[in-house]
Amino acid sequence: MAKEKTIYYCQSCGTESAKWMGQCPSCGEWNSFVEEIVSSKKSTKTISRREITAKVTKLKDIETEGETRITTGIAELDRVLGGGIVPGSMILVGGDPGIGKSTLLLQVCRNLAECNRDILYVSGEESLQQIKMRAERIGTFRDSLSLLCETNLEIIDEIVRRDRPQIIVIDSIQTMYNENVSSAPGSVSQVRESTGSLLQMAKGLGIAIFVIGHVTKEGVVAGPRVLEHMVDTVLYFEGDRHAAYRILRGVKNRFGSTNEIGVFEMRSGGLEEVKNPSEFMLGGKPKGASGSVVACSMEGSRPILLEVQALVCHSNFGMPRRTAAGTDFNRVNLLMAVLEKRVGLKMGACDAYVNIAGGIKMNEPAIDLGIVLALVSSYKNRPIDEKTICFGEVGLSGEVRSVNMAEQRVLEAKKLGFTTCILPETTKETLVKVEGICLVGVKSVKDAIDLVV
Ligand code: TYD
Ligand code: MG
Repeated sequence: MAKEKTIYYCQSCGTESAKWMGQCPSCGEWNSFVEEIVSSKKSTKTISRREITAKVTKLKDIETEGETRITTGIAELDRVLGGGIVPGSMILVGGDPGIGKSTLLLQVCRNLAECNRDILYVSGEESLQQIKMRAERIGTFRDSLSLLCETNLEIIDEIVRRDRPQIIVIDSIQTMYNENVSSAPGSVSQVRESTGSLLQMAKGLGIAIFVIGHVTKEGVVAGPRVLEHMVDTVLYFEGDRHAAYRILRGVKNRFGSTNEIGVFEMRSGGLEEVKNPSEFMLGGKPKGASGSVVACSMEGSRPILLEVQALVCHSNFGMPRRTAAGTDFNRVNLLMAVLEKRVGLKMGACDAYVNIAGGIKMNEPAIDLGIVLALVSSYKNRPIDEKTICFGEVGLSGEVRSVNMAEQRVLEAKKLGFTTCILPETTKETLVKVEGICLVGVKSVKDAIDLVV
């Protein structure tokens, strides 16, 4: 007889407890414990020694098949996935509501259906009519795309075993439920169980599964971190509510490198790829204005040029105001302290606002030099030459430290028509001369300031 037991789970980190608690001792979240009933079915079957068929294999005996990745027909997505979909893998796509997760995956379905792949799109959120309406906005579809409105995973499992599609899309894991678990859909144990049974489906039948997950206000996929550990690939869809572009970021990838990004633009006909994000980010850059400089940040294997803006003005109150949009606030404070102490600029009595134009978030230390130069340019009210780009990490003694992948950055700058590149001296020594762009190595922040501002 299965015995029923009540356990309390923290909805934010998955900690379990026998009693209800106001605050989670593990993650510090308040009011996050929810009661869940688990039936502890003891497995009565014990494995006898003869039954064990698991076999130990030598590495050299394992045969690998050639790479059999399925391309999605969207180059930006393929890049983030590491070259395409790996059969039998599970991909989690997270993001805020309304960012375009369903749209992206419906577009993937359309492209794959064009290549005669068998796809099943399972929606637990929208009715068939609503999906059809979205599909009509996106464009023409093959008739062969199969749709299913269902939230019961056992039924989905049965249909999948019968129809054997190659790729499944689950529109929102939070709506799926497993009959064996009594708690409500979207709760920690439901999400975990549902992911578990989908995982079995993926690995057992060799089906690639895309799973959409909603994101909480703190920016993590709702449900415990467990979800991220279970799947093979985690992609986050992020973007500014006010800007049309969206960034798909690879956070975890068992079959490729992480930190790759794909850039999209939301149009009236669905998501469109942005082939050259640097050009996109630099659009609308003011000419001849002080406090603006172009820096270069690497996103995975791709260099992205972006405009760093700063506004430094005299503070009317004792406490100067500082803000940073799109980059780390503490880093900006640190760089201002470096300018005060190592360069001797009186920034202590100034308000400072730093912004990465376009609403993109960049935290790579290589943009330090850009932030510093933008601040000084605004402080002195002297514009920096438009055709100049800079990158380099700034250390606490005011030194400019080397950064990796300098060659790609320089080539990207050259491609977009920049003529001067300010970079760390130590990095410059490792580079061969590039035709058409002048490389200027600097040792310290002071050198860089003397040079351009
Ligand atoms: P959706 O894919 O439903 O978001 P999610 O599944 O992440 O919640 O995206 C919906 C938003 O995208 C909605 O605000 C409308 C907009 N949109 C367009 O601008 N153009 C389009 O062609 C489509 C299909 C949606
Ligand atoms: Mg949706």
